[in-house]
Amino acid sequence: MEWWKDAVVYQIYPRSFKDSNGDGFGDLQGVIQKLDYLAKLGVDALWLSPIFMSPQKDNGYDVSDYRMIDPRFGTNADMYQLIDEAHARGLKIIMDLVANHSSDQHRWFLESKKAKDNPYRDYYIWKDAQADGSPPNNWGSMFSGSAWQWDDVTEQYYLHYFLKEQPDLNWENPQLREEIYDLMRFWMAKGVDGWRMDVIGSISKDQTFPSYDSDEHYVVGEYHSNGPRLHEYLREMHREVLQPFGAMTVGEGNGSDVEAAKLFTDPKRAELNMIFTFSHMDIDTQPTEQLGKWAVKPFDLVALKQDLALWQDGLNDNGWNTLYFENHDQARVVSRWGNDTTYREASATAFATVLHGLKGTPFIYQGEEIGMVNNQFELRDYDDVEIHNAYRDLVEQRQLLSAEEFMTAVHLKARDHARTPMQWDASTHAGFTTGTPWLNVNPRYQEINVAAALNQQNSIYHYYQRLIALRKSEPVFREGKFELLLPADRALFVYTRTTATATLLVIANMSDTAVTERPSLAVEGPFETLLGNYEQTPDFANLQGLRPYEAIIYQK
Ligand code: NOJ
Repeated sequence: MEWWKDAVVYQIYPRSFKDSNGDGFGDLQGVIQKLDYLAKLGVDALWLSPIFMSPQKDNGYDVSDYRMIDPRFGTNADMYQLIDEAHARGLKIIMDLVANHSSDQHRWFLESKKAKDNPYRDYYIWKDAQADGSPPNNWGSMFSGSAWQWDDVTEQYYLHYFLKEQPDLNWENPQLREEIYDLMRFWMAKGVDGWRMDVIGSISKDQTFPSYDSDEHYVVGEYHSNGPRLHEYLREMHREVLQPFGAMTVGEGNGSDVEAAKLFTDPKRAELNMIFTFSHMDIDTQPTEQLGKWAVKPFDLVALKQDLALWQDGLNDNGWNTLYFENHDQARVVSRWGNDTTYREASATAFATVLHGLKGTPFIYQGEEIGMVNNQFELRDYDDVEIHNAYRDLVEQRQLLSAEEFMTAVHLKARDHARTPMQWDASTHAGFTTGTPWLNVNPRYQEINVAAALNQQNSIYHYYQRLIALRKSEPVFREGKFELLLPADRALFVYTRTTATATLLVIANMSDTAVTERPSLAVEGPFETLLGNYEQTPDFANLQGLRPYEAIIYQK
């Protein structure tokens, strides 16, 4: 029961994890080869980004057959083997349910677009044009442009929140919902332990399809998430599949604030266990509608602390937090908010410490455990459709950003920073493949790789191992109530976690300048030292200041 509350989840982006057959594309046999590595790290569950049959227009988030493994990744038999071998090592398997939309090559959509009276028509969202031929409303796609695509055959528009090759599914249709539950049953019967649910916050659409007041809402706003029947659908899914199989669930709660998150995660409501939220990842984004994530602003620790504290307090009693800084949609935290040169190791471990000390379930993204960094590629060397569409739209067509401004944002926040191949060793292509990788390896792979990290006692990897083990041995990590100290301090991130019998004190200097005085804290010792990211961590009593990115966990 609730094993996920003590768990640490590791996210695998299969196409970039390990290639076993030399085609330059990661695969399931590659994952199997690395299970011992993952078990040794100490994580409990593996979330695999989508591996279903897919034209790969959005790297597998466009599924054309939910019951078949894409041959690029292997076969269904490989997946069953992976499930068994993971279980044999005590690792659970979480699959990625992409059910807000399918691929336009899915059989359902191929049927749906044939004729208005096709039995699958209503699996998707079709609407007439407005009188002047324009789309039914002004909703925008997350990947630039309108969210509506005209189809000549049946002369209607269909809705797509993402690419036009990712038409949105119509959850109003009970038959469609049953199809989704059934494919979930299929995988759960094979032993899958849970689901990460892609943009699940968007599955219910306001059936009046209202336009936004302003056409500037290029990225869909309030109508894009938390629609009227969302929670009804989730409760139905819970009854139909999640509860019968005891599945663990983490939904992408796009557009959700704390109050919305409670509706998903309050156990009494029987919906999901937890959701991914985004406000902390928007700390370095200016709130403009037109530019989306590409309007960057400098990292602000005070804002980050405030945001995380809001979530810690908000979900303390009703619900459960996810804890993450990285995933396949985010850049590398050490480059984005830390220091990826002089203090790469210290800043990677400092961010790990402040995150894993919080209440919730931590998610580690592949490569985060060795401090992988961003890539300063040229525009043409990035693969992600999000980048190229945004460049065309914001720089070339609407000229809202200069090419230089855009590239500054790309170098900081592009999704491809997380998607370059995993760096296993110092050999060609970082030991990821013997062929040509689908995306260039980060040029720093000779310095930053798993083999080097395993060889070095004080590596980021070994720090993660200790951090994960601590979380398991000290119950206060699971239950302790969070309290933020020194909220306005611009360098220090300090908080306590308290139960009736124990207190954790997490203290970190999140800057590259030493703090030379003992911070004055409203806590009393005596504390013992649980963990520190520098050699020779001072006792709490002797703490005089903190070195750049020094992070310490004390306990009493
Ligand atoms: C969120 C996924 O994490 C992202 O990678 C994808 O592009 C969109 N959803 C669309 O599925």
